[in-house]
Amino acid sequence: MNETEKLHISIKNKILPTKYLYDDKGSKLFEDICNTEEYYLTRTEKSIVQKYAKDIMAASSAEEFFELGSGSSKKTKILILEALKYRKKLTYTSFDISKKALEMSKKELKTISKNLSIQLVKGDFINDLKNIDVGKDRRLYLFLGSTLGNFNNQMAISFLYNLSKIMKKKDFLLIGIDKIKDHDVIKSAYNDKAGYTEKFNKNILDVINNKYNLDFEKNNFTHSITFNKSNNQIEMYLTSKTKQVINFPNKEKILIEQGDKLLTEISRKFNDKTIKKIFSNSSLKIRKTYFDDNKYFSLYLLNSKL
Ligand SMILES: C[S@@+](CC[C@H](N)C(=O)[O-])C[C@H]1O[C@@H](n2cnc3c(N)ncnc32)[C@H](O)[C@@H]1O
Repeated sequence: MNETEKLHISIKNKILPTKYLYDDKGSKLFEDICNTEEYYLTRTEKSIVQKYAKDIMAASSAEEFFELGSGSSKKTKILILEALKYRKKLTYTSFDISKKALEMSKKELKTISKNLSIQLVKGDFINDLKNIDVGKDRRLYLFLGSTLGNFNNQMAISFLYNLSKIMKKKDFLLIGIDKIKDHDVIKSAYNDKAGYTEKFNKNILDVINNKYNLDFEKNNFTHSITFNKSNNQIEMYLTSKTKQVINFPNKEKILIEQGDKLLTEISRKFNDKTIKKIFSNSSLKIRKTYFDDNKYFSLYLLNSKL
């Protein structure tokens, strides 16, 4: 099935694939979200990276870095600077679906050292992981920013298992996981007062319209989020203000009723037990765990068991 067919089925099921949140504008808006007071995730994860950079680099002894869904690489820069204290040469690869994210990553890192070589790879970490060059050196894979939370259980295990399969014995994976906490704290992170999340959410319609020649009207939708207590996840929706018809280039039409909710993102929150089960089912072994004083967020350093 090609991407267009997949998207049509997805829209019929009232789901807009999360990856389409990230075009140039979406990546810029995501950065704005990261800088808001409400979005505790970025500053908490950054504080853990800062505190444990030395330990993470000593434990992984990475000779190269490979970051999946890098965004602007700001947190990874802290680890790169630590690694460069001991290494004469270091390669950093940023792998992201968004051209803007790759540009931001390059801008962040290009001036830090002549010993750092930067590679930018535009790709989809779901579809293209099997094709990446796994290299010969001891690699540290990074998957930060709670991006794993955007996957349901089955997708998370399948993604991590595929990663585990391509990891060499000496490679490590550093992954950032958002933990269960006060629901109001979580909810406000996805509903900032300045309205960046709302713009970020609605931008998905422009992305899909441009890429697939559809005619979603942004102003006919409102941004909303709920915390699904049974699944411990934020669900981000676009709710239709009116009854409307979406026209596809192949003349297909989809009717959207007033009040219909299109799911654009889930953001799962984990406890130790649920995340450990996912790692174990993905053939990953925990080597180190790092967290902040509030236990809001955790970083796990893992090896492949395969
Ligand atoms: C939640 S953001 C995290 C960004 C960064 N790692 C951080 O910690 O701030 C998710 C990142 O993954 C990228 N991304 C989303 N879906 C992707 C996909 N299917 N393949 C590759 N990158 C993707 C986005 O462009 C974005 O940079």
